[in-house]
Amino acid sequence: MPWHEVIDANWKEGKMEMKIVDGNPILLGFKDGNWFATEALCRHMRWPLAWGGKVTDENCIRCPLHQTTHNLETGDLVDWAPFPIFPPYGKLVGKMSKKKDLKIYQTKVDEGKIWVNLP
Ligand code: FES
Repeated sequence: MPWHEVIDANWKEGKMEMKIVDGNPILLGFKDGNWFATEALCRHMRWPLAWGGKVTDENCIRCPLHQTTHNLETGDLVDWAPFPIFPPYGKLVGKMSKKKDLKIYQTKVDEGKIWVNLP
């Protein structure tokens, strides 16, 4: 069954948390009145995005460690590890893993609960 009930749909604006859903860590968030769910760990070096990740004005999620950024609707990579800016070290950090998009999961509200679709 791909749809999984996760929590009560009573979060305040801007909240994000990591949840384990059917054995999978996901990032669940509520921003601008919309729910979103992504894989929980940054694609660069697996930092938990719930620990300091930011939703930008461009509807992207940005990792706090090296600023890797993905689009929250599509999961497309927007920026890959641009930080730290000091050139030799920044380029080395970016090359520590291959560029990847972020998995995005569908969400829905049903009878006051948030559901996430894990295919
Ligand atoms: S671990 Fe997220 S950008 Fe490096």
